[in-house]
Amino acid sequence: MSQLIRFGVSMESDLLESFDLFIAKHGFHNRSEAIRDLIREKLSLEKGVKTDRVMGTITIIYNHHIRNLSEELTDIQHHFQRYILFSNHVHITHENCLEVIVVQGEERTLRELANRIGGQKGVSMALPSFFNLSVK
Ligand code: NI
Repeated sequence: MSQLIRFGVSMESDLLESFDLFIAKHGFHNRSEAIRDLIREKLSLEKGVKTDRVMGTITIIYNHHIRNLSEELTDIQHHFQRYILFSNHVHITHENCLEVIVVQGEERTLRELANRIGGQKGVSMALPSFFNLSVK
């Protein structure tokens, strides 16, 4: 993960009001998290990430001693619950956990899920591995 940089953003008050409603509706914790997510999504669209249906796994490794991280990861997965078939959890060391999340859905959405997880402090890996179901 690269360094976090702080910068100011100016916008019209009514736009900010709508944005705050969007943040509440989608369960983001703050404006920074929501802005990062929207930028990632826009950039991945720009790169032409497909909207094809895929199936596969997101493999994550994280330190469960980091405060609130386990709860955070659970919240994120509940937010994306309709794309998650099941997940397995293995305690790999005293502090590190491995989780394999089996997912199905639009590639773009699942990459967003992997990015959300990978963006949390204490997550050292969030590796998506997808099979394209649209390929004949
Ligand atoms: Ni564990």
